[in-house]
Amino acid sequence: MSALSLLQLQDFRSYAALDLVLDKRPVVLFGANGAGKTNILEAISFLAPGRGMRRVAMNVPVRHDCQSGAWAVHATLARADEESFSLGTGLDPQTSARRVRIDGQNAKAGALADLLRLVWLTPAQDRLFAGPRGARLRFFDRLTLSLHPGHGRNATAYERAMRDRQRLLDEGNADPSWLEACERQMADTGAAIMRARADTITHLQTQIDARETSAFPQAALSLEPLYDGAPEVDAPDCAARLAALFAASRPRDTAAGRALCGPHKANLQVMWRAKAMPAALSSTGEQKALLIGLTLAHARAVATSKDTPAPLVLLDEACAHLDPDRRAALINEVCAMKGQGWLTGTDRALFDAFGDRAQFFEVGEGCAKSVG
Ligand SMILES: Nc1ncnc2c1ncn2[C@@H]1O[C@H](COP(=O)(O)OP(=O)(O)OP(=O)(O)O)[C@@H](O)[C@H]1O
Ligand SMILES: [Mg+2]
Repeated sequence: MSALSLLQLQDFRSYAALDLVLDKRPVVLFGANGAGKTNILEAISFLAPGRGMRRVAMNVPVRHDCQSGAWAVHATLARADEESFSLGTGLDPQTSARRVRIDGQNAKAGALADLLRLVWLTPAQDRLFAGPRGARLRFFDRLTLSLHPGHGRNATAYERAMRDRQRLLDEGNADPSWLEACERQMADTGAAIMRARADTITHLQTQIDARETSAFPQAALSLEPLYDGAPEVDAPDCAARLAALFAASRPRDTAAGRALCGPHKANLQVMWRAKAMPAALSSTGEQKALLIGLTLAHARAVATSKDTPAPLVLLDEACAHLDPDRRAALINEVCAMKGQGWLTGTDRALFDAFGDRAQFFEVGEGCAKSVG
């Protein structure tokens, strides 16, 4: 079990100060629009490396009236092994940089991921299936990153090599050995990116397939390359084939001003399996149910993956659009998870199916009151 037993916010968004004392049960935050529910989930999301679930710069969440210009989030994390850790992060006003502390010692943001994993679902993801391909691939890469910590490094190195290569192509008359060096880097990191993504699809699909009777529809996931001649991910010469593709594509990429082939040209396809229907064509509520099913499968994949602690699961407005049966099913799944679930909604009644299996907080006016 992973759970927060204490969460403290200082000058974070709408909160001057917030202190939540918690037990291990799931947490329900309810209150009116603008009450500050998502702000609490966002604060938790900063207990992982990265820019939080709203993907903002570090200075953005600071409370508007705050004099010091600094914000802080502190939590006590209780883990299955009965160990507990003190995690802190925030903005250092002197350096305008992020500060991370683990058990009172300064630490790198990456070290947070060794102790705490997070999975989140936000209303901004509601248009994931019908929205732009790039957003869907970014979403999927985030899932991949939580199972393959090196994925982020490879993605950054790939992008950098791709930019360097394009600059050489744009300038013309580049030394072929420079181009080759860029393409080799793109090919090596590209092959690693493809392997990590394929492995993630396998893990997610295994978790999805294991829930035949789930109230959440089963998705069939695949990654479609949007260029000709894409190598098979498990081909032993996958990297060499990518390098050959890049070399052959130089004239076309020069004319286009961008690389037209490679793993950045991939499309995550999600099908509603039982209906053999693309997720994008499903109804609003059906898409939400598919997305929740995918998120829960992801949480189980992280929980069962070697060396990763069970993730906390942040579900912002997940019950909106769900019919009562699906809501009850979601609540049962959240209760069965090994990591604490955090749910928000405008109305407490949405969460009645929890009974006393959750702890409830009424959120509003810069505080959150425990109401059972
Ligand atoms: N930096 C900030 N300083 C002060 N207040 C802020 C800051 N950023 C956002 N807020 C305020 O926080 C309030 C609560 O936002 P939040 O998104 O948490 O609401 P919510 O309870 O999730 O509402 P909804 O049900 O509409 O999703 C908003 O009214 C917003 O104006
Ligand atoms: Mg909200």
